Amino acid sequence: MAETLLEIDGVETCYGLSQVLFGLSLKVQSGEMVALMGRNGMGKTTTIRSIMGMTGARAGTIRFAGEQVRSLPSYKIAKLGIGLVPEGRQIFPNLTVYENLVAASGNRQGASDPWTIEKIHALFPRLAERGNNMGVTLSGGEQQMLAIGRALMTNPKLLILDEATEGLAPLIREEIWNCLSMLKGRGQSVLVIDKNVANLSRIADRHYIIERGRTVWTGTSEQLIAEPDLQHRYLGI
Ligand SMILES: Nc1ncnc2c1ncn2[C@@H]1O[C@H](COP(=O)(O)OP(=O)(O)OP(=O)(O)O)[C@@H](O)[C@H]1O
Ligand SMILES: [Mg+2]
Repeated sequence: MAETLLEIDGVETCYGLSQVLFGLSLKVQSGEMVALMGRNGMGKTTTIRSIMGMTGARAGTIRFAGEQVRSLPSYKIAKLGIGLVPEGRQIFPNLTVYENLVAASGNRQGASDPWTIEKIHALFPRLAERGNNMGVTLSGGEQQMLAIGRALMTNPKLLILDEATEGLAPLIREEIWNCLSMLKGRGQSVLVIDKNVANLSRIADRHYIIERGRTVWTGTSEQLIAEPDLQHRYLGI
């Protein structure tokens, strides 16, 4: 049986007095690609912030690679092997593309086939062309590729992408979906948040739909495709 990499159960998270997650649960097995879906404001990014310890959960368990991480600081959680491609990309604007990638390089001993700058360049040739450009000068698509490359350079056990195709031109989106397919083929465990159900159901193994901070549905891609009502009800499609 596959090993459970991430397991969150009964997570409750608040911003000040406003509670956003009400007992959220989800699991990612090693090698799995899992999608987290839900309409705007339902708590997807807050789920990621809770996993990463950026907004502490006040209740529930969050286990990653066998360790309880709920009260750990973010840098320790990241070091356990989570690479985050955050909503809004958040690349270092005053570092070059090359420096953004090198700055993130880590866990090289622990990885069987570690990521290198050359492999990132093969994945996204644009980043090689732009190597000496400052982060701030990149287009949205280039920033997104850099954010993915940077997360991969940490050789993460789990890669988390929060809206990595948002606001991008169709060709660039396609490039990012192709990159996800390739990562899946490589056995990379991924938790992906996106609004494109068609692409997600083509590529992800399992899905969670959340509504107002609760898991309301979970199932495989076949099950998701077989229930168009579900998509209408919870995703507004
Ligand atoms: N820093 C914050 N302080 C207070 N409330 C917040 C904060 N961040 C998010 N919220 C609120 O928490 C709720 C969930 O937000 P969250 O960003 O997790 O949603 P989401 O599912 O990621 O939405 P989207 O699809 O728009 O990215 C929303 O009502 C939002 O307004
Ligand atoms: Mg969000």
